[in-house]
Amino acid sequence: MNRIVVLLVIFSLGAFYLIGSNKEPPLEAYTVIPEVKIDSLTAERAYEEVMNVLMHPRCMNCHPTDDIPKQGMDRHPHYFGMSRGKENKGFSATKCATCHQEANNLNSGVPGAPHWSLAPASMGWQGLSRSEIAQRLLDPETNGGKSHKELVTHMTEDELVLWAWNPGVDANGIPRKKPPISEEEFKKAVEKWFDEGAPVPSK
Ligand code: HEC
Ligand code: HEC
Repeated sequence: MNRIVVLLVIFSLGAFYLIGSNKEPPLEAYTVIPEVKIDSLTAERAYEEVMNVLMHPRCMNCHPTDDIPKQGMDRHPHYFGMSRGKENKGFSATKCATCHQEANNLNSGVPGAPHWSLAPASMGWQGLSRSEIAQRLLDPETNGGKSHKELVTHMTEDELVLWAWNPGVDANGIPRKKPPISEEEFKKAVEKWFDEGAPVPSK
């Protein structure tokens, strides 16, 4: 008798849980961060998620600390000796936008999004530690004078940032890898981190 009661309780708790979580979590939630619901992120965890994305080649390739854009998951130097040039938009004969159009070219493998260009040198992150990157990102001296509010808008709406989740195919026709969490999760993590005042751990 008692066993039946216990089983009933377990079953109804299970059913409750299923009804409560009305949305199926994305696949990454099972494989990468099974214990975390993005809605219940702590500031530290939100920071980690944001930084995991920033460190990904889809972002880092445009945020070098030298003058050369990078390509691919191995972040090799851009073909054709491309370099920052004046104003981060390439050389006058071969501006970034000569090849990089408003959208991905799925035939040639040239990625594209509006106002394609290299992040200014002060916004370079490559080779820096996570906390150094975060500090650079938050500092109006290096981030192009952006307030926290403007940074949130930039990271959740800018076309170059969002391109990372629609990265097209490379020159060999192979789909580029996306950042480790979904666009939706990234936006929530950014908002959470800034809601909490964007704390940066010391290490
Ligand atoms: C002559 C044409 C051309 C010019 C000019 C050019 N690119 Fe590219 N770019 C390409 C091609 C082609 C690819 C795709 C290579 C691949 O992925 O196989 C590419 C890929 C990239 C990538 C790689 C994306 C990734 O995450 O793998 C970045 C970043 C990039 N270009 C930035 C720039 C910047 C910034 C400029 C201007 C300073 C620029 N490019 C100028 C042709 C060009
Ligand atoms: C095609 C190149 C390109 C890609 C890809 C790219 N960025 Fe940027 N990023 C830029 C440029 C250019 C600026 C400067 C824009 C400005 O100041 O208005 C910038 C500026 C920023 C800034 C402003 C503050 C600062 O200090 O850097 C942030 C934050 C940022 N990018 C985040 C990202 C994230 C996150 C990703 C990937 C999900 C990403 N970017 C991918 C080119 C790129």
